Amino acid sequence: MKMAKKLSIIYGTGFQNAGLMAKAIAEGAMNEGIDVILQIVDEVSPEDVENADAIAIGLATYEDSMKFVESLAKVPLKGKVGAAFGAYGWSGEGPVVVTKILSSYGMNVIDPPLSIERIPDEEALDTCRNFGKSIAEYIKLQEEI
Ligand SMILES: Cc1cc2nc3c(=O)[nH]c(=O)nc-3n(C[C@H](O)[C@H](O)[C@H](O)COP(=O)(O)O)c2cc1C
Repeated sequence: MKMAKKLSIIYGTGFQNAGLMAKAIAEGAMNEGIDVILQIVDEVSPEDVENADAIAIGLATYEDSMKFVESLAKVPLKGKVGAAFGAYGWSGEGPVVVTKILSSYGMNVIDPPLSIERIPDEEALDTCRNFGKSIAEYIKLQEEI
């Protein structure tokens, strides 16, 4: 039997907006048969993602995950799927920057990333679920290439 593909979702948050996004993205990917590991950035070491087929990084602007993203430079990530998302108040460019960095590591990135202003409402959470579904579809596509 084939092993399910693994998506590691790692996020920073202060007030759980990025956390709500992360959980909805996880749901979207799991519905497509992907194994998801959901972790807060402080609990993860760069090496923890080595076995993942895909990595999604979430930011909350100030509780940012940027140091973690930079620490990933020492992990072999070439050919894995990479995605970024974030909750923001007035300037949502963080996930764009993270996407560029992941791309520079040779990852196959989902572009554009996903940014949601303030508290995600039901519609925004659906957008997150769809983002998770897109990540899952992209992971499956890699298998076929
Ligand atoms: C101390 C602090 C600094 C913030 N700085 C920024 C910022 O530079 N740019 C921005 O767009 N939003 C900023 N925000 C707004 C948060 O990004 C926004 O409220 C987000 O939804 C918080 O996500 P979280 O609930 O996952 O912590 C800031 C919020 C706080 C509390």
